[in-house]
Amino acid sequence: MSYPYQIKNAEQYQAAYKKSVEDPEGFWSEVASHFYWRKHWDKVLDWNFTDPRVEWFKGAKLNITENCIDRHLEKLGDKPAIIWEPNNPEERTRVVTYNRLHKRVCQFAQVLKNNGVKKGDRVCIYMGMVPELAYAVLGCARIGAIHSVIFGGFSAQSIADRLYDANAEYIVTCDGAFRGNKDIPLKSVIDDALIGNRTVKKVIVYTRTRTPVSMIKGRDVWWEDEMEHAEHQVEQEGKVSFPAEEMDAEDPLFILYTSGSTGKPKGVVHSCAGYMVYTAYSFVNVFQYEPGDIHFCTADIGWITGHSYILYGPLSAGATTMMFEGIPTWPDAGRFWDIIDKYKVNILYTAPTAIRSLMGFGLGHVHGHKLDSLKVLGTVGEPINQEAWHWYDDNIGKNKCPIVDTWWQTETGGILISNMAGVTPARPTFATLPLPGVEPVLVDENGKEIEGNNVSGNLCIRHPWPSTIRTTYGDHERCRLNYFSTYPGYYFTGDGAYRDENGNYRITGRVDDVLNVSGHRLGTAEVENAINMHAGVVESAVVGYPHEIKGQGVYAFIIYEHVHGDENLTRQDILQTVTRVIGPIAKPDKIQFVPGLPKTRSGKIMRRILRKIAEGDLENLGDTSTLLDPSVVEEIKRGKL
Ligand code: PRX
Repeated sequence: MSYPYQIKNAEQYQAAYKKSVEDPEGFWSEVASHFYWRKHWDKVLDWNFTDPRVEWFKGAKLNITENCIDRHLEKLGDKPAIIWEPNNPEERTRVVTYNRLHKRVCQFAQVLKNNGVKKGDRVCIYMGMVPELAYAVLGCARIGAIHSVIFGGFSAQSIADRLYDANAEYIVTCDGAFRGNKDIPLKSVIDDALIGNRTVKKVIVYTRTRTPVSMIKGRDVWWEDEMEHAEHQVEQEGKVSFPAEEMDAEDPLFILYTSGSTGKPKGVVHSCAGYMVYTAYSFVNVFQYEPGDIHFCTADIGWITGHSYILYGPLSAGATTMMFEGIPTWPDAGRFWDIIDKYKVNILYTAPTAIRSLMGFGLGHVHGHKLDSLKVLGTVGEPINQEAWHWYDDNIGKNKCPIVDTWWQTETGGILISNMAGVTPARPTFATLPLPGVEPVLVDENGKEIEGNNVSGNLCIRHPWPSTIRTTYGDHERCRLNYFSTYPGYYFTGDGAYRDENGNYRITGRVDDVLNVSGHRLGTAEVENAINMHAGVVESAVVGYPHEIKGQGVYAFIIYEHVHGDENLTRQDILQTVTRVIGPIAKPDKIQFVPGLPKTRSGKIMRRILRKIAEGDLENLGDTSTLLDPSVVEEIKRGKL
């Protein structure tokens, strides 16, 4: 067996699942025994979902980077930890061995220390997909600083909000990032975010695009200079070391902001031990990783998928993980397939939206590629439709690679429901079965459990798993209200699901006001707030509608005071505002100007009606008699885009 905790067949899965539910503490302490601990835990699990309070491996001491790097050095030191493929295929590839990763992470931890960063400090990371991003993340973990990675598609305003929320004093960024034929000026976005900011002490800038950047004396320093200086400090007589900070099992490891149904994004907090154990366990089992395999997760490290399945999961399993700087369609739509053949990638993990987009470019870009190194395919982030599933299976996996449809969330830290490649059966469009330790429950509107099979309901989880969300940064009550109060006693996912005759789960989508656009989460309230900031906008309502490539598109109904000349120019203006406030990822696909919004007498917007209109289902709007002004619906229907 490759990993002592690797499940190899369906019987073992059944046995592991049974044990995990009957004796969760025994089950997880066995898994955890295969990691490196400075001090053993006193208690495996302490919890209640009322506060909520979830503590795994209580009393244990560790540093996750010793598990992700140091403990592999003896056997895997010269093996590739990270293989980096640049945006431009003509540029040189970089292969980072475990030894090299160790050195760079130690060096960067020293840089952080030299710049005054201490355990518990918050470090915001806003970088493109370069190996230095991995060094920055792991460097933080090594000295016990809490990283908060922000995806490169967020605006200065969003960064400013996140810096403020986390009270972050340090930033690591790049001059710019290459993505396709674009060159994104990251440092200049950071400069905008820092206007008026009084808390940030240091900004470390890595040179990637060599775009001219402003460097403020006393605040901004170059990565390269800092690393050179630190190299002498961490290396003595050819031996590299930087003592890893001893962390408590429950010390926070990182904050990652994600959208909810209300207000501003919240900072989801994961802690060291449970997150480490669960990401490694789920990585090895879902993808059936075998030592030597090359794992290619196409996500950006700015999202949870990149945190868990490019970095922490694979590295704690001593795997080789790919990091790709570019996008799937540049220089052409065969980019993923080129990479797979070039490196002989064994596992490909991507999003349905990418599959649908590549499908649209036709098979011409797939032909001419062997793709014969592939063993396992995976999807994540949104429901996958039948057509995309079969296209992936037929043309990429050549019907030989199991497809794992992995359901999880930023808050769950790791995959909770998925088949295990070749171990438990796949069923197209179904995430299928829970992983060991995960107890999904379907409940009705009143929180009553729905038993049996062939049933649908709201998806909750009954018992904590090791990488359960611990809190929302700076506001624990928000965590309770969002996830643990709707259905007392359960963690509520915000998703709806169907359970088939064999207990397989099919995720049907969000049941709250959260949109899933190209696998990215957006809160309708968040987008509405941004639109409402635009001068002239009186009110707006945003809903999702089915979009062929993105899964869901954003449809905005806007009451506008006075359209300046051309309606289309006004639309462009509003898009600019949304881009400024949130970032380009939140731009509505459709904007319809309306004279009013369908509201109940108490002033609540009836989104159900707007959703139907956005979907184009104009005939079945249901009961509109409770509306304050039913005639508004007719007008909206007439103006439908
Ligand atoms: O609605 C579910 C959808 O993505 C949401 C979580 O988004 P986020 O926190 O950004 O994390 C995405 C990557 C883990 C979920 O509430 N979702 C995620 N995976 C799937 C999915 N929907 C259907 N099938 C999936 N496999």
